[in-house]
Amino acid sequence: MPKKFPQPKTGRLLCLVQGATSGGWLAEALRQSQERFHAVFNSAPEALFIALADGRLADANHRAAQLTGYSREALKGMDLRELLTPWKPPPIARLQHQSPVKRPVFREGRLTKKNGAQKRIEFCRQWVKIDQENFWAVWVREVREDRQTEKILRDSQKKLRYLNYQIMTAQEEERRRISRELHDEVGQGLTALKLFLTSINRELSSDLQQNCQTMLDFLDEFIKNVRRLCRDLRPTLLEIMGLSESLSHLLKESSEMFHFAGTAEIDDIDSLCDSEIQINIYRIIQEALTNIGKYARATKVFLKVKIKPPWLQVKIEDNGIGFNLKEVAAQKAAPSGCMGLISMKERARMCGGALRIWSREGKGTKVSVTIPLTDKGRQLCLSTI
Ligand SMILES: Nc1ncnc2c1ncn2[C@@H]1O[C@H](COP(=O)(O)OP(=O)(O)O)[C@@H](O)[C@H]1O
Ligand SMILES: [Mg+2]
Repeated sequence: MPKKFPQPKTGRLLCLVQGATSGGWLAEALRQSQERFHAVFNSAPEALFIALADGRLADANHRAAQLTGYSREALKGMDLRELLTPWKPPPIARLQHQSPVKRPVFREGRLTKKNGAQKRIEFCRQWVKIDQENFWAVWVREVREDRQTEKILRDSQKKLRYLNYQIMTAQEEERRRISRELHDEVGQGLTALKLFLTSINRELSSDLQQNCQTMLDFLDEFIKNVRRLCRDLRPTLLEIMGLSESLSHLLKESSEMFHFAGTAEIDDIDSLCDSEIQINIYRIIQEALTNIGKYARATKVFLKVKIKPPWLQVKIEDNGIGFNLKEVAAQKAAPSGCMGLISMKERARMCGGALRIWSREGKGTKVSVTIPLTDKGRQLCLSTI
């Protein structure tokens, strides 16, 4: 069936005929279009300036007058450089050969008002064609105080995070140094002392031997504690056994020390993470297990380390007494409040990942960490630190 085109309404047709016969339906259409343009231009909620290539203002809308404090008439002919800083468009010679730019240019800057006051603004300039001529169209928007504050806050958070990253890296380095000193100086010294005492012991009378043996037992315990301290400070197992084995060992050690039944499902992840990420994962799990030992009164703990490309997922669950997250979060304001939980979160973030905690009083606690395994994910992490 042939398509039916809509018929022009008789009234509109008449009007066009009348317009044409009275010498200008084209002029009338142009007038109407200009009226529409001016209505939109003047009622726009953003300040809008139209300027010539050299920056002189050809027009400005109502909002622009409000923002600058000048009347629209006074604005006409003014140089945009008097109003906007920075205003550095390309030189006129280059603009003449340039077709209207498709991509608008966004800037942050300052606006100088009639009374000399300066306002922070964002503006967007675009080289446009109006009635066969090229102009600058410039939209200007005030940056609101709360957005400024938000930006300052975001910047300082970023700096803080970077500082934290530096502190944690330095702390890890310092721990390594102390652990070495402790092992080489104190540990070796104690072992030498033990050998010396053992040889003296052989020479002693039997009643003194008993006393010396008590000293030797005490020394053994002391050496064991120094070794544990060295291990905590610098998990050498991590370097010797790799991360996966060290985590199993850490869980076993914690379960013996804190009297809970630990079960684990740990994928082999040694080749997937560099040493910095490995130490962060180790420290997160170490802190979670210490917290369980200190507070949870748990009888069962489950540790899961799973590869779910492109992520590594870590879960530490306990069936202990749990805690009120809101109350604990409120302690964050205190100078030393929740440093353990905060550093766990920061470490996850340093690996480009995130850490979440679920806990309810009487219902245990679950800590979950997600870390990207891909290079892309890690690069993203470095860019956000
Ligand atoms: N697994 C857990 N079970 C019960 N309470 C916990 C657990 N983990 C953390 N908490 C609570 O969270 C608080 C903050 O922990 P954390 O930031 O590690 O600080 P700290 O160990 O120095 O007290 C603890 O004081 C404790 O009340
Ligand atoms: Mg803690």
